[in-house]
Amino acid sequence: MDKIRIVGGNKLHGTLPISGAKNAALPLMIASLLTEETLTLENVPRLRDVAQLMQILSNHGVDYSVDGKRAGQNLLAGQTLHLSASGIVDTTAPYDLVSKMRASFWVIGPLLARMGQARVSLPGGCAIGTRPVDFFIDGLKALGANIDIDRGYIVADTNGGLKGGRVVFPKVSVGATHTIMMAATLAKGETVIENAAREPEVTDLANCLVGMGAKIEGIGTDTLHIQGVEGLHAYRHPVVADRIETGTYAMAVAMTGGEVVLEGARADLLQSAFEVLSRTGTEITEVENGIKIFRNGNGIEPVDIVTDPFPGFPTDLQAQFMALMTRAKGTSKITETIFENRFMHVQELARLGARISLDGQVATVHGVDHLIGAPVMATDLRASVSLVIAGLVAEGETEVSRVYHLDRGFERLEDKLSACGAVIERISA
Ligand code: UD1
Repeated sequence: MDKIRIVGGNKLHGTLPISGAKNAALPLMIASLLTEETLTLENVPRLRDVAQLMQILSNHGVDYSVDGKRAGQNLLAGQTLHLSASGIVDTTAPYDLVSKMRASFWVIGPLLARMGQARVSLPGGCAIGTRPVDFFIDGLKALGANIDIDRGYIVADTNGGLKGGRVVFPKVSVGATHTIMMAATLAKGETVIENAAREPEVTDLANCLVGMGAKIEGIGTDTLHIQGVEGLHAYRHPVVADRIETGTYAMAVAMTGGEVVLEGARADLLQSAFEVLSRTGTEITEVENGIKIFRNGNGIEPVDIVTDPFPGFPTDLQAQFMALMTRAKGTSKITETIFENRFMHVQELARLGARISLDGQVATVHGVDHLIGAPVMATDLRASVSLVIAGLVAEGETEVSRVYHLDRGFERLEDKLSACGAVIERISA
C-alpha cells in the first residue's frame, strides 16, 4: 500500500489550487438519478470516492462520460462529468459497493422518488462513530414510503409515488437533508423540512436541483419548502469550491509559516474557521483569485473550539486544527459535538510528540516546542490529513501509511503541497 513520506521544516509559499468539494460532488452526482436527461457537472474533483460513486451509479444504469483535457487546462483542474440516467435498470445498491462509502446510501431518495422502490444496503464509511440512518427512514416514511429492514438492506417502496410531508430532523444531518430534499422534488405536493442542514454543499445541491426544474424555497436556511414537480430536466452545474480542503491548507500554512494563495477558495464558506485561525495569529486576506494565508514566525496562539453544524466550526476540520494546536504557545480545548468517536488521530499525533489528554468529547492540547517525525497511520480521511499537517513541521521524517483514506478526499495532495515547497512524496508499494 502507498505511503506519504514527509520531511518537516519547510515553510509553504506559492499558489495552491482548490478543487471542487467532494461533499458537494457526491450528492450532485446522485441527483442525476432524478432525471432521464443529462446532468453535467463541472469542477468535479478526481478522487477515489468520486470513482467509487460512478461505479455505484453505473450499476443502477447511469451512463457517464468525462471530458478530456482542454487547451490551456492543467492536470490539477477539475473534470467535467456527464451523467445520464435515461433508464434505471436496477434499484438495488448492493452491500459490496455501499459499504465502501456511506454517501452512496443517499441514492435511496432519488431511486424511491423516480422508481417507487429501492433496496439499499445499510452503509459503511469512516470509522468515526456509529452513524445511524434513523433520520432517513423517518423522513422517507413521512413522505409516504413503506420501509422494512431485511438482512442488512433497507427495502423501501411507495403506493403510487411519494407524497409531500413534514419532516423535522431531531439533529442536523447533512446526508438526511440531501436525501429527503432530493426525494421531495418529485413527490406529489409540498414537503417542509425543518432543522435542515445549511452546509454550503446542501445549498449547492439545492441550487442545482432548482436549475434542473425543482421548486425549493428557503435555500441556505434551516427550513426548506419543496413543491413536487412532474419531472426534472438537463442542467449544467459547477461544483462549489471545497471549503474543507481550503481550511486544511490554510491550517497547513498556519502551521509551517509562509504565504500561500488558495486559488478558487471562497472565504464566505469558512467564516467560523477563519475567525478562529486569525485568532491563532494567521492573516487571511481575500484576493482576486482566492484567499491569501500568511503567518510569520511569531508562533501560534492557542484557541479553544467547539465543532458545530454550519455556520459553526466544521467537524471535518477538527483533526487538522488539533494538529495546529499541538505547536501552539499554550493550552487549547477542542470539543467535538457532531460525532462521538472522532478523536482517533490523538494517539497518532502523540506518536509525533504531541501532548493531548482526552476526557469524553473534549481534548485538551498542550502545545509543545517540537514535534519529531515517526511512522503514523490514519483511521479516517480528515485524521490522515491532520498527520500530514503535523509532519510538515515535525523534525526529520514522517511516514503516513493507509494513504487510501487521503485519496478518498484530497486531490493530488502531495503535488499541491510540494509545489508550495514542502518535502513530501508518495512512495508506491
Ligand atoms: C456529512 C459529511 C461529513 C461530515 C458530516 C458532518 C459528506 C459525504 N459527508 O456526513 O464529511 O463530517 O456531514 O458535517 O457530505 N445522524 C443520526 N441519524 C441519522 C443521520 C445522522 O443520528 O439518520 C447523526 C450522525 O451520527 C452524526 C450527526 O447526525 O452524529 C451528523 O451526521 P450527518 O450530518 O448525517 O453526517 P453525514 O451526512 O454522514
